[in-house]
Amino acid sequence: MAVEPVVYGASERPPRGDYSRARDDYTCAQDWSAYTAQDHDTYHRLYERQSAQLPGLASQAFIDALPSLGAKERIPRFDDVNERLTRATGWQLVAVPGLIPEVPFFQLLAERKFPVTDWIRQPEEFDYIVEPDVFHDLFGHVPLLFNPVFADYVQRYGEGGLKAARLGACEMLSRLYWYTIEFGLIREDGALRAYGAGILSSAGELPYAVRSPEPRRLPLELLRTMRTRYKIDSYQQTYFVIDSFQQLFDLTAQDFAPLYAQLQGLPEFAADGRD
Ligand code: PHE
Ligand code: FE
Repeated sequence: MAVEPVVYGASERPPRGDYSRARDDYTCAQDWSAYTAQDHDTYHRLYERQSAQLPGLASQAFIDALPSLGAKERIPRFDDVNERLTRATGWQLVAVPGLIPEVPFFQLLAERKFPVTDWIRQPEEFDYIVEPDVFHDLFGHVPLLFNPVFADYVQRYGEGGLKAARLGACEMLSRLYWYTIEFGLIREDGALRAYGAGILSSAGELPYAVRSPEPRRLPLELLRTMRTRYKIDSYQQTYFVIDSFQQLFDLTAQDFAPLYAQLQGLPEFAADGRD
């Protein structure tokens, strides 16, 4: 086996993907012919359900780019998406067997390669899945990679991740990923919208994140965000809001090394932001 599988969070379950297929950088070939009719049907049904509720809840940049994924009736071939994506922002999708370790993940992002899990959930996991699958990775993450400013942000994040790994600061930086790329909210023309992939690929969390009175919504602030723990197995209790992708890019352009040093001495906030 070229690479070790990744164990995510506190889960004791082994990851589902077949890591024996992976190359040294954890990428593999997308085994498109292995998808069954049921797999394509699952993708189609997830896509229909989720695209129907995007208006009024999702960032306009996301809605506009969604058709670039191609036909909704079947799981796209990543190479087909790449023809459009590379032309738009210089990014490309690479297939992976599932979650991969931090450093190879950062390395791929720094090279403008976005790792996409190639397998899809089983029908009984339609509403909820613990590990990211191709629907989450593709539908959730890829549309915004067509946005030039957001695309640059994700590459910078990858470079910043390699630096954080050298500084022992991956946990702090990963919270920024979580609260922006996965669970970020944006204010567009005065209205709250979702741009985070974890929200956009979830039928339940999309209306919850944007409209529910329950969670906290705070303006994105680096120190605060990097001090806030998060839950991987429930809806978020805290979301961070940006005003534009340019603001996100500018806010994160500074050298994080002094921030990491400062963070060492500061207490964390619970996921509900209340301590
Ligand atoms: N500016 C950050 C650093 O110096 C890198 C970074 C950029 C991190 C964008 C996240 C997002 O480490
Ligand atoms: Fe994700």
